[in-house]
Amino acid sequence: MVELGVNIDHVATVRQARRTYEPDPVWAAAEAELGGADGITIHLREDRRHINDRDVEILRKTVQCKLNLEMSLAAEIVEVAIRTRPQQATLVPERREEVTTEGGLDLSVAKNCADAVKRLHDAGIFVSAFIDAVPRQIELAKKLGFDAVELHTGQYANAVTDQQRELDKLISAGRLIVTAGMRLHAGHGLNYRNVLPVAAMDGMYELNIGHAIIARSIFIGLREAVREMKQLINPKR
Ligand code: PXP
Repeated sequence: MVELGVNIDHVATVRQARRTYEPDPVWAAAEAELGGADGITIHLREDRRHINDRDVEILRKTVQCKLNLEMSLAAEIVEVAIRTRPQQATLVPERREEVTTEGGLDLSVAKNCADAVKRLHDAGIFVSAFIDAVPRQIELAKKLGFDAVELHTGQYANAVTDQQRELDKLISAGRLIVTAGMRLHAGHGLNYRNVLPVAAMDGMYELNIGHAIIARSIFIGLREAVREMKQLINPKR
C-alpha cells in the first residue's frame, strides 16, 4: 500500500488571511485522518506564514497517524523538531520570497546537514530529504544518513510536452533510492489527474500531497477528498 501524507499548510494559510482562529489545522488533521490519511504533513516555515509553533505542539499531541514535519536546516527550526519529536522530519530548502518550496534541497551545499540528521536521529525522528531526481543528490542523501528520500515531482507535474521524460527520470531515481536502502517518497504538484504513474512506481512508499486535496475539499469536504486520493493511489484496494 502506498501511504498518503496530507499536507494541511493551506488550511493555516486561510486562517492567516484573517489572522484569526479558523479554519484550524488541528481540525483539518482530524478530518484527514477520518478520510484515511496515513500521515499529516506540515511545514513550519521560518517566517511562520501559515503553520505556527502552537499548531506543531498541538498536532504532535493530537495526530494519531504519522506527523511529518517539513523543515529547513535553520538552527531554531531544528530545535523545535528536537523538542516536539514528530515521527518524521523532511528537510526542505526554504527561501523567504517563494510562494511554495521551489526545487529540492541541494545536499552538496546544505550547511550543517549531517549534524542536523544526527541530532534528529538521536531524538528518535525518521529523517527524509526532499531532493530533485539527480543521482549525485541521492548518493549524498545516503552518505549523510537519511532514512528516506522524497523525490520532487514538480517538474513532472508541470511538464507540458514531455511528461513521460520527467516520469522516466523519477523512475530511475526511485530505483537508485531503493537500491541504496532508503525509503522512497514523492511529492509536489501531484493531483487527481497526474498521481497514478508516480504512485505506481516500484518501491513507492509515501506520497505527500497538499494543494490538490485542499482545493477539492472546498467542494466535497476534506474527509471525502482524502478518501478519493487514497483510493486513487491504491487502485487494487
Ligand atoms: N512535499 C514537499 C516537500 C513540499 O514542500 C510540498 C509543498 O509544501 C508538498 C510535498 C506538497 O505539494 P503540493 O501542495 O503541491 O501537493
